[in-house]
Amino acid sequence: MKITVGSDHGAVALKEEVKMVLKELGVEVKDVGTFGTESVDYPDIAEKVCADVVSGESDRGIVLCGTGIGISIAANKIDGIRCALCNDVYSARMSRAHNNANVLALGGRVTGFGPAGEIVRVWVREEFQGGRHERRVNKIMALQDKQ
Ligand code: RB5
Repeated sequence: MKITVGSDHGAVALKEEVKMVLKELGVEVKDVGTFGTESVDYPDIAEKVCADVVSGESDRGIVLCGTGIGISIAANKIDGIRCALCNDVYSARMSRAHNNANVLALGGRVTGFGPAGEIVRVWVREEFQGGRHERRVNKIMALQDKQ
C-alpha cells in the first residue's frame, strides 16, 4: 500500500510520527509537505494529497492541520474523496468499515502521538465491509452530481 501524507504548519511534528508508524506497517509513504514552521494554507495541502488519491498514484491519503477540521473540509470538496476526521480509534475503524474513507484527517494540536499512532494502525488495516454500506457510500458519492 502507498499513502500520501501532508500537513500544514500546525501538524508537522505529528506528520513525522504518522510517517514512522506507516513505515513500521510496511506502507510506502509520499510526503508532500509542509516541512517547516512557516505558515501555509491547508487547502493547498489537501489538494496535493487528494490529487494523488484521485489519480491512483497513492491508494490512500492522510491529511493533517492544527485541528484536522479545515483540511478535512477542504479534502471533502474534491471529487472522489471521502475524508474522515478521526480523534479516536473507534471512529477510525468505522470510517474504513462503513464509510470506505480513502483519506484520514488528524489534528496536530488535538491528538497526541500515542493515540494518533493507534488511529493510523487501525485505519490502515481495517477493510471496507461493503454490502449495505456500499449502497450508502454510493449515495454519498452521487450527492456531488445532484448539485
Ligand atoms: C492554522 O492556524 C489552523 O487554522 C489550521 O491548522 C487548522 O486548525 C484549521 O482547521
